[in-house]
Formats: sequence, structure tokens, C-alpha cells
Amino acid sequence: MQSRSETLHLRSAGTSVVIDLTTPGFPAIIHWGEDLGELSQSQLADMAIAARPQRVSGGLDTPSRLTLVPLESAGWQNEPGLVGSRHGHDFSPAFDAPEAHNGTVDEFDATSVTLRAVDKCTQLELETTLTLDGAGLLHQQHTLTNLGPTDYELQHLLATFPVPQSARELLDTTGRHLRERSPQRHTFTTGRHVRDSRRGRPGADSTLFLAAGTPGFGFERGLVHAVHLAWSGNQRVAAERTVGAHALLQAGELLSPGELILAPGESYTTPDALGSWGDGLTAVSARFHESVRARTSHPSSSRPVTLNTWEAVYFDHDLDRLARLADAGARVGAERFVLDDGWFHGRRDDTAGLGDWFVDNEVWPDGLAPIVDHVTALGMQFGLWVEPEMINTDSELARAHPEWILQAGGRLPIEGRQQQVLDLSNPAVFDYLLERFDALLRQYAIAYLKWDHNRDLLEAGSTVTGRAAVHSNVLALYELLDELKARHPELEIESCASGGARVDLGILAHTDRIWTSDCIEPIERLTIQKYTNVVIPYELMGAHVGGPRSHSTGRQHELSLRAGVALPGHFGIEWDISRLDDAELSDIAAWVDAHKRVRELAHTGRAVYADLPDESADLRGVVARDGGHALFTYTQVTTSTSYPPGTITFPGLEDDRTYRVSLASPTAPLESAGQSPLAWTEHPVHLTGRALRTTGIQAPVLFPEQLRLIDIFAI
Ligand code: DGJ
Repeated sequence: MQSRSETLHLRSAGTSVVIDLTTPGFPAIIHWGEDLGELSQSQLADMAIAARPQRVSGGLDTPSRLTLVPLESAGWQNEPGLVGSRHGHDFSPAFDAPEAHNGTVDEFDATSVTLRAVDKCTQLELETTLTLDGAGLLHQQHTLTNLGPTDYELQHLLATFPVPQSARELLDTTGRHLRERSPQRHTFTTGRHVRDSRRGRPGADSTLFLAAGTPGFGFERGLVHAVHLAWSGNQRVAAERTVGAHALLQAGELLSPGELILAPGESYTTPDALGSWGDGLTAVSARFHESVRARTSHPSSSRPVTLNTWEAVYFDHDLDRLARLADAGARVGAERFVLDDGWFHGRRDDTAGLGDWFVDNEVWPDGLAPIVDHVTALGMQFGLWVEPEMINTDSELARAHPEWILQAGGRLPIEGRQQQVLDLSNPAVFDYLLERFDALLRQYAIAYLKWDHNRDLLEAGSTVTGRAAVHSNVLALYELLDELKARHPELEIESCASGGARVDLGILAHTDRIWTSDCIEPIERLTIQKYTNVVIPYELMGAHVGGPRSHSTGRQHELSLRAGVALPGHFGIEWDISRLDDAELSDIAAWVDAHKRVRELAHTGRAVYADLPDESADLRGVVARDGGHALFTYTQVTTSTSYPPGTITFPGLEDDRTYRVSLASPTAPLESAGQSPLAWTEHPVHLTGRALRTTGIQAPVLFPEQLRLIDIFAI
């Protein structure tokens, strides 16, 4: 408890947030970052005074402040935090001085505060909760309540995070199918950088995070602040720098016209907007990972090695062929077998069948029991692909219920992958899907659903309400996932969406992993996984080993690269290994074993990335929480201009400990591009963490697109 103050101080895990309750309009965060230590009330009050700007020529008489919900009524002349109206009236709210829930600001704990303010004129109530969790991640949520007698149409309500003036560079991600979370950097100049997603899901091109930092910030260093929105629908993430010397990050839901109309007494709560900060992106991601790992729903068992049938057989569902694949999977050590798309009524290719969630009796005359029994008898879990939100117009369901399809203006939207989207906010649709999947889960020993979503939404209107329905569909989806899990408590669910188009901590609050990308080619995956990993820890990222020739890029790679890149993730195989000979199967088994040996380290440890000066190579690792062990992968991505490539330095180790450094290879010694042995592999070296971080070691000479594992043990 803290005594009454007009300046609040939240502290957790090396982070301080100081909130000035007296700023005109609404409270403002005046510090978010480094822990400031114990501060007295008068020191806090002085911080608030020190933060007050001067009045300047040509400006307003009360200089504007960057509050948690910046508003025009308080002089904010940039993007407001709250926009809405009652048919054009009440468009400019002005809130009273805020109070805590129970009438004062006295009662808050040192990690969380809820503030409530009312605007008597527009008859709106705004409640804001700021929480610093045990990882020092800052959660921001707002609830708007309509206290008036008429409808209030909300256009947007954004969470606003101030960032330091030193943040002069922005980093976010873009992408497309097969290349999600591709990084892009910009100078953070005056103006607004906006990343809107209007795809009904975050989308392959959405930004997983928006980071603002000192110029050139990397993974190892540079003060950086970042936000992520835990929401699986339309969204806006933005950065803005103003001429009034404010710099901010914002995140919130993007609403269509008329999508959110609050009837008298109704409320809307924004998705959880999460803010992390640190010296380098590794520190930023450590807070996300620690916070995610602290959830009670976080998977606690070892992540089962998965054999997925998609790139192995596609739609060729044949019991004998799949049983042979399962046999090969069990032989190499797979623990879960996932039957992908193609098992249900009328689904011989991707043009028909979605919606008809009954086992196809032409392809599976005895139902799924023969394959489920075969898989479980081999000691593996059985998983099944589903795409519940989707419907093909060529399906029994679409013929029976065309009105269940999301649409506008009495016409169906343009198709994507020959499919349309169901309106889950319609209770009849929700009940149908719940009944179908509940029945399948009762009938078969299904431990896992790969829950796919293969198109962007367009004109997503409900025929029940006649209004835009992305928001209500996201909420209904979360409810459906929760209800299935409540009925089948052991069930795990993967969020897949044309690969990695629905990757966010909103969906991960209701599922157990994401499918990172349909591209499992290792060179592409290096970047995709690196930037996904800024927010999502490895154990929640599906990472599979494909065949030697990539189905998405056509490039060929040796097994050590394909498996080495997948090694720290939720590991799997997606390749027809039933056709391989004994030697090839033993090599795969050796990599599966290698993964099983490191998965605890990778799934509990700290992910680190080296900022190498030579961009032709990639060095990344996982370091155990106690600093006693680490595994790094070194990849020669392209040829280097240096030959030999020079030294590499290792981040994340403990400076004062001594480590034994060695190359590891789960299979027979690998071909080397070097013309002589590498000295430190011939004569094992023992170096301090400080020496490894500063002086480093000579990198092995590799051919391009080769990878080596480097084991580091404290002695
Ligand atoms: C897209 C997914 O990302 C793939 O892994 C596969 O499940 C296909 N859909 C099946 O249609």
C-alpha cells in the first residue's frame, strides 16, 4: 500500500512506471522504464512538476500532455486515444479528475492501479487499468461505459505508451504467406507510422510488435520500448512523434463503422496492450517470454515431437500409406501424429467440403478409428486438422445455411482459397460447430487439434445483426476454443492461419502453440523465427523439418541445417519419411534425440541473438536460466566477404563463469569448407563468459547454407 498521492509509482522486475494523476485531461505516464528505486511522495511529486512543459509562442495556453487517453479537450492535436459519438454529438469527451474504483486513489498495490473517470457532459465513464506483471511487462486496458440514455458509437479506443525522446528508430514486421514477420526499420521522424490490419485476423503482413529505440538498436544493445496487442482480429498499431516533443506507441482494435455501438449501460473493454522495454530486443523479448511462461495455462509438459502429414501426403489420404508414415514416425522418435487436411466429407482437394465436419466414408470407410488406433498403439498421440470458422460454398452446410456466411449487402465476399467464413457470433453457427467438434473429440482419442484459418476476412457482416462482425467473431472464437477445452481438459490446440497469419498473445491465451509459417525452409525460417521469437517463446512456435527440397522455395538443404534451425522450437517433421532408408531414418532419429535433449533448455531458457557485424552469418542461442549451459547455432547464411569469417562473440552468458566450448553434431562428422581443422575443436577451450562476449572465438569456415551447433557448458 502507498499513502495518498497524486503521483503513483508501480514497480516490478526492474521496471518502474510513474503516473501523474494531475495532468489535464487524464493521467499520464511520466516514466516507463528503468527501476527508479524507492521514491518518497515528495520525490514523486517533484518528478511530476519536472515533467510539466512550458507554454510556447503560437501554441495553446495550456500545453498539451501525452496522457493515457490523449484528447482534444485537453489540447491534444494528434491522434486522439478515444473517438466516437452519438450520431455526431458528444464527439469530444473531457473527463473529470480520475478516481480509483472505490472513490480514492489511495488504494492500489505497487504493481497495479485502476483509475476511473467520468465525463458528465458526454455521459461516458472511462476506466483504465495499468498492471506491471511479474516479468515487468506493462499491461494497459481501458473500459468505456455508456452512461447516457442513447447509443454511443465507438470508433476507436487505443492504449497509449510514451517512449523516450531518444527513440529515433522504429522496427516492426511485415510479411506475406510463406514469409511472415519480416523486419522493417524506419527513422522515427515527426508524424505517424500506422500499421493497420483489416484482414479479420492479424494477417501475414501484420506487425507482431512495434519497437522504438535508439538509432541502430539491436538484440544485444540499445534502449528500446515495444508494444504488442493481444488480439486476433482487426487492429491498429502506431508510433507517433509530435512537434510538442512527445513520442508514443499506440495499440488497439480497429473497428468498422457501426461495429461497436454501446447501448445505454453497455461497456467495451480494449484488448490487452502489452509494453516491454530493455537494453536490446533480447531484454524486450525476455519480459514477454517470462510473462507468457508464468500463465497458469502455459504448457507444462515436454512439447511432443510432431509428425505432420501435410507436406508428406497432402490430400492423398490412404490408410496404408499413412500407417507406414506413422510407423516411420514412431521409429524416429515422434510423439504426436497429426492428420492434416483431407479427412472429412467431400474434401478431396481445397475446393470443397469445409463445414461438413463428418469423416468422409469414401476415403475412411471405417471412420478414423483404424488410423487413430494404429497411431496410439505406436505410443504416439493423435492430432487432427480442422478449420472450423470456414465454409466452402461447395458443401452440404453452405447449401443448407447460406445465411450462416459472413457477408454484406446481400452478396458473398470475394473468395479466398475458394472459401468463405462462417459467422460464429450467430448462436446457431456456434452451437453447430461446438456439437461437431465435441462429438469428434468424444468419438476418437484426439489429443490435439490443428485449428486452421485459411483466408483473410472481407465484408465480414453478420446476417443476424446486419452489422460488421469481426469483433464479435473473435470473441465467439475465443469462447468456442475455451468451451472445447473445458469439455476436453487434456486437449491441446494449435493456432494455424495460412501458416502464421494469426500469431498473437490473444489467440495464445486460448491455444497451445502457433504454426509459425507454412514455409519450413530453414534459411527463410531463420528470419521468421527470430522476429516471431521477440514475443512468442520457442515452446509455442511450431518448427518442422521438411524434405531436402523445400516445397516453398525449391532450394535444397542438408538435414543438419533443416533440423538445426527447427531444433529449439516445438519440433516436428513434415516430410514423407516412410520412403527413406535405414541410414536416413537413423540420421533423423539422431536429430529428434538431439531435440529431446535440448528442449527443456530451449523451452525454459533465455533466447539470445548476436548482433554480428557480418550479416552473412547468424548466431543465436538459448541460455539456461541459471547460466550454466547454452546451445548456440551458427549458420553461414550467404558467402562472406571475409575468408575465414573471423571471430564471433556470444551474448547472454555469465561474465565470471568459465565455459567449455565445443562443436556438436548429432550425426556423423559433417563436411567442412575449411582447409584445416579449427583449433578450438581440436583443443577444447575453456573461456569465461566475459571473454566469449568480448573477444569471442574463430567462427568455423562453412559453405553457405550450412549450420553448426555449439555447445557451451559451465565448468
Ligand atoms: C494451411 C496450413 O498452414 C498448412 O499447414 C496445411 O494445414 C494446409 N492449410 C491444409 O489445408
